[in-house]
Amino acid sequence: MNILLFGDVVGKPGRIALKKAVPELRKKHGVDFVIANVENLAHGFGITPDTIQELRDAEVDFFTSGNHVWKNEKGAQLLQANPRNILRPANYPADRPGRGWSSVIVGGTALCIINLMGQVFMPDEKNITSPFTAFDELYAAHGKDAITIVDLHAEATGEKRAFGWYVDGRASVVVGTHTHVQTADEQILTQGTAYISDLGMTGATDSSLGMNKELVIKKVAQGLDISLEPPENPREVVASGVLVSINTTTKRAENICRIDQKVVL
Ligand SMILES: [Fe+2]
Ligand SMILES: [Fe+2]
Repeated sequence: MNILLFGDVVGKPGRIALKKAVPELRKKHGVDFVIANVENLAHGFGITPDTIQELRDAEVDFFTSGNHVWKNEKGAQLLQANPRNILRPANYPADRPGRGWSSVIVGGTALCIINLMGQVFMPDEKNITSPFTAFDELYAAHGKDAITIVDLHAEATGEKRAFGWYVDGRASVVVGTHTHVQTADEQILTQGTAYISDLGMTGATDSSLGMNKELVIKKVAQGLDISLEPPENPREVVASGVLVSINTTTKRAENICRIDQKVVL
């Protein structure tokens, strides 16, 4: 089974990147299932029904997220209905809208997809429980007989790599998201888990983490209190992620390959 996973999709440039890249990649690599992290989908913050539909039209099947997912009111309402194909991290308090894991059948094979949040360097995120313990519980209840895929939305590479080794041989795939910078440490861990510390950012190339670079300079270099947004007319966009091949009998990953597909507009 071949699965494509994309890192944080930022605003319209990110949606354009997937529209251009995904149908072609699906065909080229015989892809069975596509997952994207959508916490920044709607103008950089959260999701909306329309922007999720745009990605469905771009042949993306499933959506994970992170700390920003509730920032758009329309998206928070969408999560309130507990859609089965849009996740929020499971280890937030239960009163946050949305679900943290889901099962789907792809070509007769069960996938268990789990979304988790890291605890290290996350001072604004309160009451997050251990992603390690949350994984143990969800895997025991739902993942044992499935191909288990984890999006660990976290800042620290050390925490993410520790998590990868902790679940090696149980999860078939562990991908990190949240930093918006793709790491070059993709590997198949010793017990068969495909791992990368961060998938990277899907959005405008000439940006800072997907946001308008002039605004970022004002905010970071000049200390101005302004809100960030994606650039309006990017010259180029990039779809960042990985392509993973999994043996559906052994549930072991057999290959992981980074995707860094740039599209000039
Ligand atoms: Fe993000
Ligand atoms: Fe995030």
